[in-house]
Amino acid sequence: MSHNLLKGKRGIIFGALDESSIAWKTAEKVFEQGGSFVLTNAPVAMRMGAINTLAEKTNAQVIPADATSIEDLENLVEKSMEILGGKLDFVLHSIGMSVNVRKGRHYTDLNYSFSEKGWDVSALSFHKTMQTLYKKDAMNEWGSIVALTYMAAQRVFPDYNDMADNKAYLESIGRSFGYFFGRDKKVRVNTISQSPTPTTAGKGVKGFDGFIEYADKMSPLGNATADECADYTITLFSDLTKKVTLQNLYHDGGFSNMGVSQMVMDKFVDEQ
Ligand code: NAI
Repeated sequence: MSHNLLKGKRGIIFGALDESSIAWKTAEKVFEQGGSFVLTNAPVAMRMGAINTLAEKTNAQVIPADATSIEDLENLVEKSMEILGGKLDFVLHSIGMSVNVRKGRHYTDLNYSFSEKGWDVSALSFHKTMQTLYKKDAMNEWGSIVALTYMAAQRVFPDYNDMADNKAYLESIGRSFGYFFGRDKKVRVNTISQSPTPTTAGKGVKGFDGFIEYADKMSPLGNATADECADYTITLFSDLTKKVTLQNLYHDGGFSNMGVSQMVMDKFVDEQ
């Protein structure tokens, strides 16, 4: 289904690890809508090589960058403008990783050097990316920057661990930097708060199977898939949403405004 919503637009997509990644689906859809882009991921994530398959399918070039390294980000932004032939119209930050989660550290027993690393990768990298784009004046007017987040930033999901804090920080950066990007460059910045999604990062959360099932039963429209998240992102990259900025946008089938649903209640009510 192509409407050429992104025809002539250029961008950078971070975070396509494999076919299940939200960034992977987004890259496919941006391509379908006529956009051109550079794909990037951490050098270590590229060892698997899957990103090259995506790059071939979408006529994209791949530039490795650790999103915590300013040097890598500067190189990425400069090279992307060279390759794509001008300033950028869209950027997707689809990056997340908690070392404490990976190493099985409980929230009440965090290793703080793990916390710092996870915070740098998952939250501060969004500031670093925007600051690099801003200083290099790399965004066209009416461009759009999107990062992905999760509702554990607002509400307690115990097994989300220190990623909850990282997401709260990420969302705040979206607003704070979004002000300057809007005022000075007419660029919008938003975060999309996505349903639990079965990706490498998603499945790393303890108890993910129960978690995703619960969210699905609570949401009147059911969980939003990675494909649907990609569709939503396309709208935010398109010219149809030019005045949407500084928002944390829930893309979750209605979950965030629910108290309880009949399907969840039924699990607790004795059969008559
Ligand atoms: P994913 O595992 O496919 O993507 C995470 C990406 O982050 C990977 O491509 C990984 O290589 C990249 N990354 C890690 N460290 C990096 C670094 N230093 N520099 C550059 N890239 C680095 O998983 P998914 O789910 O597609 O994650 C994308 C975003 O969506 C993340 O921000 C995640 O927190 C968010 N999200 C995911 C949900 C889920 O349930 N899967 C729910 C809500 C938000």
